[in-house]
Amino acid sequence: MQKFLDVAIEAAQEAGRILLAEFQRPQRIEYKGEVDLVTEADRRSEQVIVERLRQHFPEHAIVGEEGGGQSAESRYRWYVDPLDGTTNFAHGYPCFCISVALAEHTEPIVGVVFDPLHGELFSAVRGEGAYLNNKRIHVSRVPRLDRSLLATGFPSHKRTQNPNIHYYWEFTLRSHGVRRDGAAALDLAAVACGRFDGFWEFGLKPWDTAAGVLLVREAGGRVTDFTGKPYCVTEPAANFPENALLASNGLIHGEMQQVASEVAARASTRL
Ligand code: IPD
Ligand code: CA
Ligand code: CA
Repeated sequence: MQKFLDVAIEAAQEAGRILLAEFQRPQRIEYKGEVDLVTEADRRSEQVIVERLRQHFPEHAIVGEEGGGQSAESRYRWYVDPLDGTTNFAHGYPCFCISVALAEHTEPIVGVVFDPLHGELFSAVRGEGAYLNNKRIHVSRVPRLDRSLLATGFPSHKRTQNPNIHYYWEFTLRSHGVRRDGAAALDLAAVACGRFDGFWEFGLKPWDTAAGVLLVREAGGRVTDFTGKPYCVTEPAANFPENALLASNGLIHGEMQQVASEVAARASTRL
């Protein structure tokens, strides 16, 4: 397990150096969809991570967001988001990270989220706790939704309609506020270390969530779908409704579920 973690950290730090250098340069933006951006930094970062993983674990499967992985029938599968927060990055907004995780069958067993601008390295190994720069981290102890700070996100590809706006509205009224930072892996890391008390989003992909979900669980929090079923990282379609992810410190989980079900019950906002 230590070797898996060491290589994931080495790869994320190497990618971090590339992102820092690229962040200083004007960005050449391309579009994957109507509003879904990709930059040279996404590609270069993914290339170094995949190279490093391939070199150490040639028999493992690797799924990279930008398509640079390798498929293999393997008990082990890496999920790589080489730049989580591309829209922020492309606009010069300093909030982005690298997410690297290893799953054994369907369970994440190693997770690393690295924020190179702030020098923050979040890591977790299944059953061994979660860490920020080698210091053990825990979820917050905030006991009530009306005392909590929350986060959410909106998918980059969907512009015409987004039911999450109704959840955003309701949770904003019932909490200290809802942040929308634009990097899901960092949002989950922030729940793990107690900066946020809860986070939800729809339609995330395994490379967005695999490392962050492990961080939250290892830090003592809960990650489920909106029905309270454990969130399945590797088969997003199994999470109900619309691949909903709900992460929290555990204490406000029931209240968040309750609000979500009230919002969903209103016909006009049903997903
Ligand atoms: C996106 C970010 C964002 C979330 C989107 C993701 P990307 O990832 O995590 O916070 O709201 O759903 O797609 O495209 O920047 O890697
Ligand atoms: Ca992402
Ligand atoms: Ca990305």
